[in-house]
Amino acid sequence: MKAIVYTEGGGPEVLRLTERPLPQPGPGEVRVRVEVSGVNPTDWKSRRGGPPATVAEQVPNQDGAGVVDAVGEGVDPGRTGERVWLWEAAWQRADGTAQEYVTLPGAHAVPLPATASFDTGASLGIPAMTAHRALTVAEGGPARLAPGVLGGRNVLVAGGAGAVGHAAIQLARWAGAFVVATVSNPYKAELARAAGAHHIVDYTAPDPAAEIRRAAPEGVDIVVEVAVAVNSGLDLAVLAPNSVVAYYADNGGAEFTLPVRETFARNLRWHGVLVYTMPDAAKREAVAAVTAALRDGALRSGEESGLPLHRFPLERTADAHAAVEDGVVGKVVVDV
Ligand SMILES: NC(=O)c1ccc[n+]([C@@H]2O[C@H](COP(=O)([O-])OP(=O)(O)OC[C@H]3O[C@@H](n4cnc5c(N)ncnc54)[C@H](OP(=O)(O)O)[C@@H]3O)[C@@H](O)[C@H]2O)c1
Repeated sequence: MKAIVYTEGGGPEVLRLTERPLPQPGPGEVRVRVEVSGVNPTDWKSRRGGPPATVAEQVPNQDGAGVVDAVGEGVDPGRTGERVWLWEAAWQRADGTAQEYVTLPGAHAVPLPATASFDTGASLGIPAMTAHRALTVAEGGPARLAPGVLGGRNVLVAGGAGAVGHAAIQLARWAGAFVVATVSNPYKAELARAAGAHHIVDYTAPDPAAEIRRAAPEGVDIVVEVAVAVNSGLDLAVLAPNSVVAYYADNGGAEFTLPVRETFARNLRWHGVLVYTMPDAAKREAVAAVTAALRDGALRSGEESGLPLHRFPLERTADAHAAVEDGVVGKVVVDV
């Protein structure tokens, strides 16, 4: 079978196409024929760092979607033929989704409803699970999103045209929140609106805080933050008492400072989110909620739903990585 691998860290050019024997699923594992592999910033950041010391040859890409074609000992043989979406395929493992077949623990291959495309399935693992975590770290929960559980809450999604931002808008809408998204230009505003945001604010315009306050006069309860270092002042200006900034990236800057008295006086919380290291219980909640949202048709991909797709064949995985690294707007997928 064909696989993309890298043996050292570096630019997209370290990725090369190779032939490998068909892998056999071990106990508790399934083997999935990968249809679509999804690319996220984490995949090129990992590639730049090179494979872990214990791994000779790394297959990139955490996310994907496909069909179970074999099961290991202890897994229900009835899973064979099941359409699935994949998460954390390459986290602390040598086998990502940029290959024709991947083996992974059965729980990391989640049933994909017949109504959801493989493209959507390959766009979920990192973005939707990160978004789910960010939307569930507020004091008082909920631990799992479901229709109505964020009713009455105002959510601010920074960067509503980003992959995580897109998932956050869709999940927050599904859960009943009022959703404001920030963007930097009119095209991205269209995408955030297509994803379902109620109100869009251009964060490059003068006084975005006043604009957000106009849309959510009582303040924002949850901020899903991609650029905490540059946005801490803006977030502080729009937060409601007892609210949370769930930050998941250092886009724009690596450090931030906050005023001590003002933040404790308003009982504000800044909560870091890393999808890989969040508690296992939070991962299980995210998987369950994402699957329920898929069934409800609330998680979609494609330009019409705010997430333009950029396709590459397997042998051009290096170009797919370069596109993500260059900050392409939308979702990069690899047809395996
Ligand atoms: N912690 C985790 O578990 C986790 C999970 C997933 C991703 N990440 C990280 O999160 C980042 C985004 O990932 P992604 O896949 O969503 O990337 P993406 O699709 O490229 O989206 C990034 C978005 O951030 C927006 N942005 C940048 N600066 C902004 C600012 N000051 N205010 C508002 N929006 C801003 C960009 O919009 P403009 O260009 O218009 O500003 C863009 O839409 C990456 O650094 C990634 O490594 C972390």
